[in-house]
Amino acid sequence: MTSNPPVKADINLAQLLEAKSLERCPFPIPTGWYFVDYSENLKPGELRNVQLFDQEWVLFRTEGGKPGMTDPYCPHLGAHMGHGGKVCGEALRCPFHHWEYNTEGWCTSIPYGKVMPPITKKQAVLRALPMEERYGLIFAWYHPTCAEPTWQLPSIPALEDEGWTGSRRGSWTANTAIQEIAENGVDTAHLKFLHNAPGIPPVKAEFHDHIMDLDIGNGYIVGRAYGPGLNVLEFTQNGVSATMISYTQPITPELSQMNMCFRSKAYPEGSMEQAVAKKIIDHMIGAAEGEESAGFESVDFIVWNNKKYRPRPLLCDGDGPVLQFRKWFKQFYDADASTLAKV
Ligand code: FES
Ligand SMILES: [Fe+2]
Repeated sequence: MTSNPPVKADINLAQLLEAKSLERCPFPIPTGWYFVDYSENLKPGELRNVQLFDQEWVLFRTEGGKPGMTDPYCPHLGAHMGHGGKVCGEALRCPFHHWEYNTEGWCTSIPYGKVMPPITKKQAVLRALPMEERYGLIFAWYHPTCAEPTWQLPSIPALEDEGWTGSRRGSWTANTAIQEIAENGVDTAHLKFLHNAPGIPPVKAEFHDHIMDLDIGNGYIVGRAYGPGLNVLEFTQNGVSATMISYTQPITPELSQMNMCFRSKAYPEGSMEQAVAKKIIDHMIGAAEGEESAGFESVDFIVWNNKKYRPRPLLCDGDGPVLQFRKWFKQFYDADASTLAKV
């Protein structure tokens, strides 16, 4: 007969047992501006259903070109406007009784009503997300209780047509929360061990309001996050740089769609600079030719898709600013927009 060794009185059992109660993605959908789709995928008059922010939405573009994104269910008798609904001029028309709503969610027409319900004169009656469209990207502002945007989308020089180039894009599905993906940016130790980088690069991180600035490897990667849904990272090698613009979407709390485009200065055709910029971009995504280190495509997903979130991680002195990152990210879970503005 064997018996279990006695539990020593001085060990921290909570540490040993914590994994039993860990969750994969214990977060709601964070507040912020998020990419919805590329402009060319939404023509005037088009309407379709999209899954984002843990629910279904009707995405449409008015005849005049304005994008709109609303709850699918009509405030009248609840028809799903993404099934049989239509864009009519500047409005979304419900298939059931032809009530119409504008891109802000106001009811603009009830074809057979003599008196509009009083509430329709005071406020939007259909939830509609604030939308912005620039550089060929459509963005929506998500806040769990419909607060207005507390910051504006930035201008992104690398996405300008003039002086910049690059049409390469990518999209990848990760079975994890958007926060877990973003945490990679400050976890510089994994660059050596998971990505085979030659060493652990030094990292400087600064956090202010909705912005996180990162400098990894003394200027090798200089990045800025604008809330949880937009990142611009510039990689520089031998004086040549290339930029990754990343706009991940939270589909559900446990499912994220990573989207990126890759740009560089319009270096002369056939130049050394152009070749270096291309190599930097290859390197960001996967292993570039003749390189040992691996980009996120080949290695990060195996971790993201299987890990659990440790609220009290056991960290060492060589780790990057993981806890500072988490503290910064926490503001996006604050349901009260006025509090968010003060963080
Ligand atoms: S349910 Fe939409 S108009 Fe009646
Ligand atoms: Fe990574």
